[in-house]
Amino acid sequence: MKRIAILTSGGDSQGMNSAYYAVVHHAIQNGLEVYGIKYGYKGLIEGKIERLDMLDVENVLHRGGTALFTSRCPEMKTTAGKQKAVENLRKFGIEGIIVIGGDGSFMGARALSVEYGINAIGIPGTIDNDLAYTDFTLGFDTAVENAVNNIKVLRDTVYCNDRSMVVEVMGRNCGDIALYAGIESGAEVIVVPEVPYDINKVVDRIKNNQAHGKMSNIVIVAEGAGTAEGVCKDIVERMPGLNIRSVNLGHLLRGGHASSQDRLLGIRMGVHAVDCLVAGKTSRVIGVHNNEIFDEDMVEALAKKRVFNKALYDLAWHLGESK
Ligand code: ADP
Ligand code: F6P
Repeated sequence: MKRIAILTSGGDSQGMNSAYYAVVHHAIQNGLEVYGIKYGYKGLIEGKIERLDMLDVENVLHRGGTALFTSRCPEMKTTAGKQKAVENLRKFGIEGIIVIGGDGSFMGARALSVEYGINAIGIPGTIDNDLAYTDFTLGFDTAVENAVNNIKVLRDTVYCNDRSMVVEVMGRNCGDIALYAGIESGAEVIVVPEVPYDINKVVDRIKNNQAHGKMSNIVIVAEGAGTAEGVCKDIVERMPGLNIRSVNLGHLLRGGHASSQDRLLGIRMGVHAVDCLVAGKTSRVIGVHNNEIFDEDMVEALAKKRVFNKALYDLAWHLGESK
């Protein structure tokens, strides 16, 4: 293998840049030529491909967003789109590609590998932590930290007003951000897609806590389970006159410097991905389990079913009850 390329795809996440930095450094140190593809598969199809040197990643390691830019590209799901993508890779003599993204992006990588013989390796980059095969995805830790910091701010204002607040966080099909941010910020209620939404339980919790003098309660809602506005409305219908507001933290979670954990994870995954290409591997995804970095077959990894940490959820629920 002489020439490899790297792209980021789908939703950006903190730590993508750390992986990008590590891929470029480690690949060049291994005698490879590295090409950067801008705007994910869209850039690959449009030929936005440039040779990289170490100076291109000089000051990106800690930054949020992705220095390679990103996009969603429906064309990559079509045969014509994939053919254009492969033509461009061949034009540059690129034999291996590292794709940083979520499961959708991995499907694109899988197609390049299985259908067209390009060696493809996936690095999990999504704040949602929705990939079953790995303990953590890049960006999750920072997104949780961002949520916790925002909730800390909200606590100041709601507490001195005897007010409650419903806070929505990202997580399309996965409640991990809500769960971890919820337990770490002492949320009194956590609503996630993995546990059926029971408005009576939510209301009972607020009533119980208020009966014990706790007038200010935080309800955290994962995007995949509902909206802050909707849950707030449901509560007020059952507790008319309750002093409560709602806020959607939305994309605030997706920016800002990567946490120390995401930076280290990105670097370790980036290095491992290059090692996979050097070893001639293809159709592999990089993951972390018990702090060990590993690679696994892409199809097997994507077929795995996520296991929600119900014990942590139950613990959070238990801790949020006033007595
Ligand atoms: P994520 O990678 O974060 O899950 P998406 O699901 O939006 O985000 O996927 C990102 C991109 O990956 C898509 O816009 C598309 O270009 C590509 N992609 C998704 N699914 C496929 C597929 N089945 N085949 C080829 N490419 C795909
Ligand atoms: O997949 C990551 C994610 O941040 C989800 O949590 C969220 O639903 C989605 O991306 C938002 O995407 P967009 O950037 O297109 O608004």
